Amino acid sequence: MDDKLVAVFLLLSCCLCSYCFLLRRKSIVACIPGPPASSWVFGHMKDFLLPDQYGDFEYSWQREYGQVYRIKGCFGEDRLMVSDPVALQHVLNTNLFTHGPSLEQSMTLVFDPQAVMPAHGETHKRLRAALQVGFSASAVRRYQPLFQNVARSVTERLQKVCALLDSSTPTDILPIMSEASLNSMSQVLMGYSTEELGKDFVSNNSKVMALAAAQSEQQILASAVSSHLPLWCWRAITQLPIPGFDIIRNAKVFAKRVGRKAIAEKLNAAREGVATDPQARADVFDLLLNIDPTLSKKPPKAALTQEEIASQTGILFIAGEDTTTSALVFALLELADHQQFQEELRAEVHQFAKIESDDAELSYDNMPLLNAFIKETLRRNAPGSFNDRAAIVDTVLPLTKPIRISNGEVLQQIPIRKGQIVTIATASYHRNESLWGDDIDAHEFRPSRWLDGTAYHGRALGPYANLLTFLGGQRVCLGWRFALLEMQVVLFELVGNFRFTPSKDGHRLRSQFANSLMPILPDGNRGAPLTVTRC
Ligand code: HEM
Ligand SMILES: *[C@@H]1O[C@H](CO)[C@@H](O)[C@H](O)[C@H]1NC(C)=O
Ligand SMILES: *[C@@H]1O[C@H](CO)[C@@H](O)[C@H](O)[C@H]1NC(C)=O
Repeated sequence: MDDKLVAVFLLLSCCLCSYCFLLRRKSIVACIPGPPASSWVFGHMKDFLLPDQYGDFEYSWQREYGQVYRIKGCFGEDRLMVSDPVALQHVLNTNLFTHGPSLEQSMTLVFDPQAVMPAHGETHKRLRAALQVGFSASAVRRYQPLFQNVARSVTERLQKVCALLDSSTPTDILPIMSEASLNSMSQVLMGYSTEELGKDFVSNNSKVMALAAAQSEQQILASAVSSHLPLWCWRAITQLPIPGFDIIRNAKVFAKRVGRKAIAEKLNAAREGVATDPQARADVFDLLLNIDPTLSKKPPKAALTQEEIASQTGILFIAGEDTTTSALVFALLELADHQQFQEELRAEVHQFAKIESDDAELSYDNMPLLNAFIKETLRRNAPGSFNDRAAIVDTVLPLTKPIRISNGEVLQQIPIRKGQIVTIATASYHRNESLWGDDIDAHEFRPSRWLDGTAYHGRALGPYANLLTFLGGQRVCLGWRFALLEMQVVLFELVGNFRFTPSKDGHRLRSQFANSLMPILPDGNRGAPLTVTRC
């Protein structure tokens, strides 16, 4: 190329770059009030993601700046933290926002390309519609006996642990709840026991979960840098023989293999008429394959191909495991801290257990304290503390009430640019005092707020109890009814059989966000020691 041409080209690129830079600088988001950042490299990301206790900074920002404010991401990026229900409704219910770039990138790494969560547009719509067969209200009702089997095995496990310990030695309930959650996934998704899944699956899977949960300064920087790479470049990098990537690639292949095996076995059994046991119960894969396990007939055509169903194995396990583990563990921790409520709940459980001698008839939705307890746990300890979204196009964010920006202007709505990151601040939204109670403290655990009418005043958001625990809109959690029934059945069983009290050494557990909210011991590991006694 001619030197002059190169010079012109360079000059043009410079102009373009500074134009883009100026454009970015001029985004109105930069003028929205928010806390000052002490570091250009990390912005507020260390305060937001790695505090001693989740929310240490976020909740004081919320108190000072309200439901929409600006924080700094890495390298000077402006992000919006949003807990305003009107703005959130816009983010969730229009198709103008997608997953934030770092989530988008980890999904291409972790999930099968045919899986529902990384899918977009029409493909996503079609997969969701087809998967609904296994997750609708009527489908989930059919899984009740499967969950009850899981719950009984948790009781047996906990009884054994209790028998080995004297009554004052604490039991770490976290691994037990984690096993309960893995069991529910394998039993209710595909009719496998955890042993049938195989040691390799379980170890592969737990390594991926551990990687996903790793939170550190390096992790924050790596994710900030990688989120600026184009997707093709990121795809190429993920093919490199780097140990973390290796584990994830293996697990992805392995999950699909387990899914294929389960599907082949189910189809064989149906064809050969083996499964004519009238006690047989349909699981999620049966419903997706359109198999009725109590009838021996050739399965009619299903909406998804076998390969498409097998491709969902990984995402279903990953989306359902740590999340429900977190929910169950925090439920028991809250019970231990609220003895009087625990007694009242146990009385309700025993009363319902007495009325219904047949477990199949138990109607968990009719138990007021149990459901208030679950709602309050999912409000105060939402497993997903926040979710990042990015605008797909230039758009505006409508607001409940106007905000004043740094140049004195008052905005009724915030104009935002394509690519703008908007953080759905679920944990903050769940702590807004005027939404969740009048003069009471929304930070407290108080299940009675769900029974005395103080719980929620505002615009309906989310599929359940106006909570954002399962988000909402097109990408609302596919398994929210599944997770709720699992919690109802497991907690009913545990509260009926055991009494939970804080462990005597009383060390303070910290809640930290590590992919899901988790209790952390003073030594930095996950754990939830409680004193468990039979009752
Ligand atoms: C208490 C337990 C659970 C919580 C708190 C939870 C929460 C969530 C949230 C917040 C999302 C949205 C993620 C995003 O779009 O950024 C989500 C999506 C999803 N969840 Fe759950 N989840 C739970 C249990 C489950 C279970 C048990 C399953 C499956 C059996 C499941 C399957 C899914 C799937 C497939 C998606 C992706 C949906 C899509 O992108 O269309 N979840 N979940
Ligand atoms: C709580 O919500 C109300 C109504 O949406 C809002 O006016 C108020 O500013 C919020 N408070 C905080 C601290 O975000
Ligand atoms: C994952 O499973 C495979 C079996 O295909 C096994 O060879 C491998 O060691 C497992 N990886 C981990 C990290 O457990």
